[in-house]
Amino acid sequence: MRVVILPTEKEASDFAADFIEKFITEKNDSVLGLATGSSVLLTYDAIIDKYNEGNLSFKNVISFNLDEYVGLEPNHKQSYRHYMSEKLFSHIDINENNIHIPECLDGDFESTCENYESKIKSHGGIDLQLLGVGSNGHIGFNEPTSSLNSRTRVKTLTKNTIANNARFFDASEPQPSIAITMGIGTIMDAKNILLLGLGQHKSKAVADLVEGPLSSFCPGSVLQYHENAIIVLDQLAASNLKLYDYYVHSEKMNVEYMA
Ligand code: GLP
Repeated sequence: MRVVILPTEKEASDFAADFIEKFITEKNDSVLGLATGSSVLLTYDAIIDKYNEGNLSFKNVISFNLDEYVGLEPNHKQSYRHYMSEKLFSHIDINENNIHIPECLDGDFESTCENYESKIKSHGGIDLQLLGVGSNGHIGFNEPTSSLNSRTRVKTLTKNTIANNARFFDASEPQPSIAITMGIGTIMDAKNILLLGLGQHKSKAVADLVEGPLSSFCPGSVLQYHENAIIVLDQLAASNLKLYDYYVHSEKMNVEYMA
C-alpha cells in the first residue's frame, strides 16, 4: 500500500488527476472505475481542466461507476448518473456508449448485478478504480460487515451513511436507503486502485483502513491486500495515522529514486 500525504485537499486531488492523466496517456482505452461523492469532486475539476487544455482525451475510455441508488430516476438530481453527467461526463469527450452505471429502476436487480459483472469482465476488467471512503470505512456502498469477497449486489445502507448523504437531498425528498454497488471482490479485481481521503472527518476511517486490522467492519481495510493500491490523503485525513512520518519519508524517497 502506497500512502501519499499532501498538505491540502487541492494538492491531493491534483495528484489523483495527474495519476489518472498519466494512466490514460499510457493506455488510451483504459477501463476506469469511477466514484461519486465529495472526495472526488476536485479531482474531476482538475481532469476537466486538463481536457480543456487539450492534454487528455476520453474518446476510447470505458467507465464503470461503483454504485447507484435504487429507485431514483436517472435524471433525478441526486442519482449518481446525474452526478456523473454534471460533474464530469458532460465536460469531456467520453462516448455515451462507453459509460456504465448500475440501472436501478428495473425490478430484476439480480440480472442487473450479474450483467454488470459480465460487462466489466468483457472489457478485460477495470484497469484503475477510483475510490472515496465513507466515515464508517465503506468503499462503494459496501457497508461494514459486507463480505470481503462480495460481488455487485443490492445493499442496505447504514443509518450513518444515510445521514452523511442527507445533505444532498432536500428535506422534503425521500432518500433511498438501498443501492446497487460493486462488491468488495469486484473492487479488489481492479488492477490498480487509487483511494482519496480528504478532511478531518475521514481521519478515523483512514487510520482503520491503512493501519487497522483487516476486517469487514472496516471494508476499506481490504485494500491492505491489494498489490497496487495508492491511498492519497490530505494532512487532516492522515492526522490519525501512527506511521505518518514514515509515509512522508518513504514517499520522499520514492520521488528521489524515481527522479
Ligand atoms: C458515498 C459513496 C461512496 C463514496 C463515499 C464517501 O456514500 N457511495 O462511493 O466514496 O460515500 O463520500 P464522500 O466523498 O462524499 O465523503
